[in-house]
Amino acid sequence: MKALPFLLILCLYLQIEKSLQDCAWDTCHEIDPDPDVITAHLIPHTHDDLGWIKTVDQYYWGAKPELVPVGVQYIYNTVIDELLKNPDRRFSFAETGFLWRWYTSNGDYERHQLQKLVKNGQIEIIGGGWVQNDEATSHYVDIVDQMTLGLQRLKQIFGDCGKPVSGWQIDPFGHSREMANIYAQMGYSSLYFARIHYLEKELRLKNKTLEFNWNASDDLGTQIFTGAFFNDNYGPPEGFCFDSLCGDDPIMDNVDLEGYNVKQKVNAFAEHIKKQAAHQKTNQVMLLMGSDFQYTNANSWYVNLDKLIKHMKTYSSEKIRVIYSTPACYTKAVQSRSPKLSVKNDDFFPYASGKHSYWTGYFASRPAFKGMIRQASSMLQLAKQLDVIADLGPEDESDLNILREASALVQHHDAVTGTAKENVTRDYEKQLARGMSEVEAVINDFMSGMNPNGVEPKLVICPLLNETICKPISNQEEFSIVIFNSHGRYYNGTIRIPYGQKSATVRDANKNVIESQVVETFKVDQLKNADRSLYEIHVLVRVPPLGYTTITVSKGNSIVNVHSKSRKKGDAKVEIQNEHLIAGFDAQGYLSYVTEKATNKRRSIRQEFFYYEGIDSKDDQPSGAYIFRPKTQQPIAFTSKIALEVVTGSITNEVRQKVNPWISQQIRLPKGKNYLEFEWIVGPIPKETKNPITKEFITRYITDVQSKNVSFTDSNGRQVMKRFFGGATSFDYLDTEPIAGNYYPLTSFGYIKDGNDQFSLITDRAQGMMATDGVVEIMLHRRCFYDDHFGVEEALDEPGKDGNGLVAIGKHIILFTDVKASAVQLRPLVSENFHQPVLAFSKNSEKFEFNRKLEYSGLTQELPLYLNLLTLEKWHKKNSLVRFEHIYHNDGPESEQLAVAESFNPKNLFTNLDILSFKPLLLGANKQKGSSKSIVSKTGSFTIRSSEILTFEIEVERKGT
Ligand SMILES: *[C@@H]1O[C@H](CO)[C@@H](O)[C@H](O)[C@H]1NC(C)=O
Ligand SMILES: *[C@@H]1O[C@H](CO)[C@@H](O)[C@H](O)[C@H]1NC(C)=O
Ligand SMILES: *[C@@H]1O[C@H](CO)[C@@H](O)[C@H](O)[C@H]1NC(C)=O
Ligand SMILES: *[C@@H]1O[C@H](CO)[C@@H](O)[C@H](O)[C@H]1NC(C)=O
Repeated sequence: MKALPFLLILCLYLQIEKSLQDCAWDTCHEIDPDPDVITAHLIPHTHDDLGWIKTVDQYYWGAKPELVPVGVQYIYNTVIDELLKNPDRRFSFAETGFLWRWYTSNGDYERHQLQKLVKNGQIEIIGGGWVQNDEATSHYVDIVDQMTLGLQRLKQIFGDCGKPVSGWQIDPFGHSREMANIYAQMGYSSLYFARIHYLEKELRLKNKTLEFNWNASDDLGTQIFTGAFFNDNYGPPEGFCFDSLCGDDPIMDNVDLEGYNVKQKVNAFAEHIKKQAAHQKTNQVMLLMGSDFQYTNANSWYVNLDKLIKHMKTYSSEKIRVIYSTPACYTKAVQSRSPKLSVKNDDFFPYASGKHSYWTGYFASRPAFKGMIRQASSMLQLAKQLDVIADLGPEDESDLNILREASALVQHHDAVTGTAKENVTRDYEKQLARGMSEVEAVINDFMSGMNPNGVEPKLVICPLLNETICKPISNQEEFSIVIFNSHGRYYNGTIRIPYGQKSATVRDANKNVIESQVVETFKVDQLKNADRSLYEIHVLVRVPPLGYTTITVSKGNSIVNVHSKSRKKGDAKVEIQNEHLIAGFDAQGYLSYVTEKATNKRRSIRQEFFYYEGIDSKDDQPSGAYIFRPKTQQPIAFTSKIALEVVTGSITNEVRQKVNPWISQQIRLPKGKNYLEFEWIVGPIPKETKNPITKEFITRYITDVQSKNVSFTDSNGRQVMKRFFGGATSFDYLDTEPIAGNYYPLTSFGYIKDGNDQFSLITDRAQGMMATDGVVEIMLHRRCFYDDHFGVEEALDEPGKDGNGLVAIGKHIILFTDVKASAVQLRPLVSENFHQPVLAFSKNSEKFEFNRKLEYSGLTQELPLYLNLLTLEKWHKKNSLVRFEHIYHNDGPESEQLAVAESFNPKNLFTNLDILSFKPLLLGANKQKGSSKSIVSKTGSFTIRSSEILTFEIEVERKGT
């Protein structure tokens, strides 16, 4: 008896608590229980690109109205006002990057109103990433990071209602299986989008399979409920766009006034709903009431939607109920009807919106920007780790956030894709460059933290090492270089340092002289920058995992030799070699074979550059930022003989090719490695003064591999997708664009193979790949002089530094071995290549090295080959976030023995951190996963399945404190 009042109070309290936190998915309007009645779900939403025609901040403020008269701040303001007027109304917000801008630009009162509307269920937060990332050109490391950033901020602002359940990728130009896999692992219950191949769309409409279960990973068995929209876009039914930007008539429902149109509107709306319902498995119909930057004046939308709902109830004779809804409520409604859904196993690439509109150009648009994004990403990983290892302060964290946000921003589907306007791309580059330069401060604070007695700590980063430029050291004879390795394994490879002298002595962290080679910089007319150093030092370094080492350069002595020899005209064949391989070149200067020394097996390979001319008529579908559409299906060859220079030496053996004024390349056999590196320099792509011709430059690797029509490309750098030339797996392919229709995104790696041999390629930035029997083709650079009619309204004509056209440098790694060796080596090599070492320079070696640890590893042991330390960053309070990834996938019979569950104990992994506790989280780090006991054993070890990513929040204690 005594307990009763207490229980009552508890119940009351719980009820109040619950009513304070009724998220959108808890407060759905009721659907009609009658199976004969269609329920139409009105989903008010806005699609706000973080940069495209205007920069992200111009969009936020509504600046530059002459470009587009919209401002995202007004969307938030007016939507909030309108929702407060009527509790039945709903809205769904997607892009966290904008939400954060609004939240941090407003005061407590406004913030609280937004929070209230999320916590009473009127607003559903969907998607949840900082941006709606692209799915072809974004790397999974960046996708996971940009999602984590968005989800972390949402949780901070909204608590449990800020943990989205609806995946929202409505605009990206094709959809990857790995993105579905990521959403599934983050605990989302659905995924929605608009753009799928027009032929697959036709089939799915006919089949009533617009909604299906997507099997997102063979290894993990993940699955996610997926819906492709009925309309070809994510806008409202025709005639029902009530935004102030739209031209449709409002609902005029006063009979005493001119223009009364209720009957007509109600009938047209019912017609649309019935038409759409005929293509759906259930009697639930999703209607997207909104589009790009809509709701700047939310009143014009809501007034009309209220009327539509009211009048549909009163006047429509059809069995239709119309309700305000959100994606999660719609999903619940569909699932409550238990439809029998089909499954999908492949992905949605390439995307075509019409016979000649294959969206495969953007895989390669803006190659230098794409390269910069990858570089920023690897610096971000390093900076986050240094923050944890040295326990840096709040200032460094805000420096880091600048790069976190910039790197997340450029994953947007108009950024990394290269489909924003030139000026907007400049803004992205500016933000990225700023973020990367903040890493310099993080590195310096890390060094002071780890070396409290050091005197002259200043290290500088040189962002243009790719062009052999590092001004701070260009006139120095002596300097120190700290080489950081963010990988959980040793970095054992050659680094190249710009240098002004002909000879050098290099010492390692123990002051022992180490082998180095000074070579002349490859001089090409494409790169005329006066700041380029005349020489480069090539030195083989060994950098400990998650750590750094220091090397010192001083003016040369005898061990140095310049071994450059130029090849005279008329020479017969040229060969270079290293410990593992011999590469042979023919009389025309083309690579023609590679011999594996151990087995003496010689494989035929020819690498050649070509270009396509793109369709450049205004009236027909042109090639442009999005679309690739060549004039002919045969690319044009560059016929001239290639001028060669050969560099040999104890470290570097390479052939330098000058193909023509726009293309040159270094093909090298890195010391100690069994692969080849192709460093290409492409551009400026020539532009005719009158009627310029669009050109798309490609490289082809022509081999003897009998791959027939099958090839493999990665999905966001993780799973492998099997591709068929001239065929699609989900629908009947029409061969309307034989080349463009067979291009697939290559984020990280791709390969072809037969029973014996495998030719694999690893790239340093997102590109496009096509493969035919034995041939792999990669698009490197493009310059398109016509807009391709998908909204950007600008030609893809990058001016480059001097206005004559962009020059881009990039690298391919080629692994050409038997299939078994490839299965073992490829994935570790991909992982290593992502974590490029970061170099930081100090002009004054003596002072810098005084009282300083010259080498350090954050790990007590190198990680096993199968394991990648995907994330190490500060989390809330004193905790850290860590992700481990099993890098092997079940990619076929050769990888069976690698794609097995492994068990690992990280307890004593970190040099200066003790792990006190583990909390397993879902991939997005915003939700707990199972109980920790089921994932981490008593001794602290976990089991990780092939391709699995395990996410933990760890509580750490600094050793010795
Ligand atoms: C469409 O229906 C056909 C015949 O039932 C089936 O074989 C096919 O897998 C379906 N395709 C899609 C994409 O729904
Ligand atoms: C790009 O920005 C610059 C500097 O703000 C401006 O002068 C130029 O007109 C802009 N170009 C376009 C095409 O908008
Ligand atoms: C690093 O590479 C060198 C040169 O190939 C080799 O001798 C050495 O064993 C390698 N070290 C490690 C740790 O892999
Ligand atoms: C070199 O790297 C920087 C920074 O990523 C980039 O802006 C620049 O375009 C690159 N240069 C070339 C020629 O690719």
